[in-house]
Amino acid sequence: MDFKAHIAARVKVGELTQEEIYAMIALPPNTEMGDFALPCFRLAKTMRKAPALIAQEIADSYPEDEIVSKVSALNGYVNFKIDRAFWAKQTLERIFAEREGYGSSDEGKGKTVCIDYSSVNIAKPFHIGHLSTTVLGSALYKLHKFLGYTPVGINHLGDYGTQFGKLISAYKRWGKKEDIEQGGLRALNALYVRFHEEAEKDPSLNDEARAFFKKIEDKDEESVALFNWFKELTLKDVGRIYELLDVHFDSWAGESFYNDKMQPVVDELREKGLLKESEGAQIVDLEEYGMPPCIILRSDGASLYATRDIAAAIYRKNTYDFYKCLYVVAYQQNLHFKQFFKVLELMGKDWAKDLIHVAYGMVSLEDGSMSTRKGKVVYLEDVIQKCVQKAGDIIAEKNPSLENREQIARTVGVGAVIFGALYNNKIKDITFSYDKVLNFEGETSCYVQYTCARANSVLEKGGRGGKYTVCEVLDQEYELVKKLADFPATLHDALEKYEPCFVARYAVDLSQLFNKFYFDCSILNAGDENIRNFRLALTEATLITLTNALKLLGIGVPEKM
Ligand code: ARG
Repeated sequence: MDFKAHIAARVKVGELTQEEIYAMIALPPNTEMGDFALPCFRLAKTMRKAPALIAQEIADSYPEDEIVSKVSALNGYVNFKIDRAFWAKQTLERIFAEREGYGSSDEGKGKTVCIDYSSVNIAKPFHIGHLSTTVLGSALYKLHKFLGYTPVGINHLGDYGTQFGKLISAYKRWGKKEDIEQGGLRALNALYVRFHEEAEKDPSLNDEARAFFKKIEDKDEESVALFNWFKELTLKDVGRIYELLDVHFDSWAGESFYNDKMQPVVDELREKGLLKESEGAQIVDLEEYGMPPCIILRSDGASLYATRDIAAAIYRKNTYDFYKCLYVVAYQQNLHFKQFFKVLELMGKDWAKDLIHVAYGMVSLEDGSMSTRKGKVVYLEDVIQKCVQKAGDIIAEKNPSLENREQIARTVGVGAVIFGALYNNKIKDITFSYDKVLNFEGETSCYVQYTCARANSVLEKGGRGGKYTVCEVLDQEYELVKKLADFPATLHDALEKYEPCFVARYAVDLSQLFNKFYFDCSILNAGDENIRNFRLALTEATLITLTNALKLLGIGVPEKM
């Protein structure tokens, strides 16, 4: 229920419309004062009265109401208290009616949103640097779906470029089929690293690599077959990780998919007079917009990353008629996105405004950075495995008799990695720490999962789905109710700002409020039957909401921990 709308419909002040009043209603800094507040300072000028007096008049004229239990004026604010029992009843009713759908909506009905995320590179390691795009993109995908949009998850594979020539050259020189079959991505990367070492001594290797790349482009059977094999091996390896992280895609159209879709782009750019020659290359001049030129064709006629992205955007618009197209890509590529968005705008695509670069910061491990070329890489899979193993150790110590320990360790360990990457505002650089993400008392997924297990165990003893009536609502219960009621709005905000961290933080906040309630108010030994049932209902509603929140982030909830 929208209490702000309810209040705005009843407040009478000057000439203000209901919408204007609605927009002015805020949350007071502390709930002692009220649940909602209307500041009157801005009104003083037009009404030629002191704010305190205006506030008093509004409070006095507010009609009798079964939802708002108290209206008072204080220091130029009108404070409104909602009837606690009413709010609790409303909230619980909604949660029990909607259950795993609680928080969902149809606000995105009929709107398709393309989300380009993870977008791994073939034959290159899937490393810790890909964590954010993968889990942020996946959370945004789930969030859009939950709010009624039609999301299209796109893995814009990096499957085009001279590096594949290098790889073929390296494979033909030093590779063994069985080793590569077994070693997958890591073996491919080892070849790539070796190529660079050897090419430093013998630069002619680079010519050989270029020749092999040309062969791929010319559809030479052997080279294409090798390239496809590299691709297959890569997808098998990353597929394992996607499965662990509960990440899915609707399209795997990568860079090479656009090979035959760029000529029309080049033609259109030329027709519209946007192409310019510069040192043999074809560019779009962006000086006027304070950016370096966007290079469309190299002097040898080869297309570039940006050319492919322009073709891809046009293809996506034609194919999906998207309402928005999101690119979940690190901020290092800010300029690239600004440039090709601008080029599309200059081409007269009015939908260029619907392209959104969802930029995020870097993830590094506590012990330093990495480089693909020199082979110093932190594989994401290793990070996940280590977290799972550590989670297993912690659980073994905390609860040695727990059944299904391995599976639970996996849910906890994987959750820790995802949550660790999602907990902060996405633009922040983060340092990944195993101890931090697995701290059961911290702002972590295991803290939230542990809270769920606690709620589960209470419900196991007390029963679920019982009849309850709401009488008096204590402070701890009320704070919990309000947080529960806030879930749908949190999801709306998270989507609007492309910030899954709002959901992660919400889950931690709700867990903290539940734990306070759990320690301060006896649930099973409440004495009074009514109170006990109400508290059990609050416990169940919390479990439902926390489960929904974690699920949107791709994190599971074990029954026991
Ligand atoms: N494969 C690229 C990289 O690893 C990311 C691609 C992002 N998507 C895009 N449409 N440019 O840097």
